[in-house]
Amino acid sequence: MIYSKVIGVGSFVPEKVLNNDELCNIVDTSDEWITSRTGIKERRIAEDGLVTSDIAAEAAKKALKLSGLNPLDIELILVGTITPDMIFPSTACIVQEKLGLKNAAAFDISAGCSGFIYSLSVADSFIKSGKYKNVLVIGADLLSRITDYTDRSTCVLFGDGGGAIVLTANTENTRGILSTHMHSEGGHDDILMLKGGGSLMPASIESVNNREHYIKMKGSELFRYAVNYLKAVAEEAIKFNNLKPEDIDLFVPHQANIRIIEATAKKLNFPMEKVFVNVEKYGNTSSGSIPIALDEAYMSGRLKEGGIVLIDAIGAGLTWASSVIRW
Ligand code: ACO
Repeated sequence: MIYSKVIGVGSFVPEKVLNNDELCNIVDTSDEWITSRTGIKERRIAEDGLVTSDIAAEAAKKALKLSGLNPLDIELILVGTITPDMIFPSTACIVQEKLGLKNAAAFDISAGCSGFIYSLSVADSFIKSGKYKNVLVIGADLLSRITDYTDRSTCVLFGDGGGAIVLTANTENTRGILSTHMHSEGGHDDILMLKGGGSLMPASIESVNNREHYIKMKGSELFRYAVNYLKAVAEEAIKFNNLKPEDIDLFVPHQANIRIIEATAKKLNFPMEKVFVNVEKYGNTSSGSIPIALDEAYMSGRLKEGGIVLIDAIGAGLTWASSVIRW
């Protein structure tokens, strides 16, 4: 049996902070509303000129350094993103060029906020099959570029950032990815989508005037799906591995809303001390959310070698996914 061992982790967020008080100057909202409904206090916003591949490359550089691998050792680059630099070429190919990963195949994965776990799952399958040994998995998004800052129901939620991990094939079961589970359910475009700019609605003066190039979301409907599906996919992972909730050392959920995180943790009987939370600092960074959290958990000593970590996420599609990793 081949396991995918995590040998490097890194993340990168833009320097510029947009806090709740500053948002009050942009839309009709308040720090009190945003904090009580979401737990978010501030988020990072990329300065002009900074693009998703820059964030992805910076995060990947840190992960590669920690891994000790040579750039030429990487055989596959996967980037989970819904905000690629452009429709094509893929952001993964742009990252390849930026980092000189000349021996790698590269492609993007679009799965909304589940993009990182979907990418991790694909990477794990390639490693388990024996096809590739060293894989770079990135989740990065610049949601500020597709956020409508006239829509108070969405613009308070999102931020920019990304993270990366390096996986290597390992034949001992002492460390590595123990499971991945992915699910999709089409037909929910009405609650979360970005319509403009694809083949359905190519960019036009009308599409721009109608603000069709921004995220449209029905938050309270999505909230209900999020709590139920995140609980289900976490339970699926725990059961698959013959674990009990108390065997999980750290739960790292998608950072979208503290109320979703707390409700899911409660349904799973996880005490909040075992749940990693940084949503107050970054808001929802979509595919960036889990790898940023993993990097911060590792750097702060909360993710120890041999510890069991559970990650889960839900996003546009709908898509939802989980993974259990022995770190
Ligand atoms: N400031 C002040 N008032 C606001 C704001 C704001 N920023 N946004 C909405 N409101 C108002 C609404 O207009 C509404 O007013 P009304 O009752 O007079 O019509 C009221 O607040 C309540 O709105 P709801 O949508 O019912 O508020 P809710 O408690 O559901 O919270 C939220 C909204 C935070 C979006 C929540 O539904 C949520 O987090 N949903 C999950 C969605 C999510 O996280 N999406 C991210 C992408 S996908 C993912 O990662 C899961």
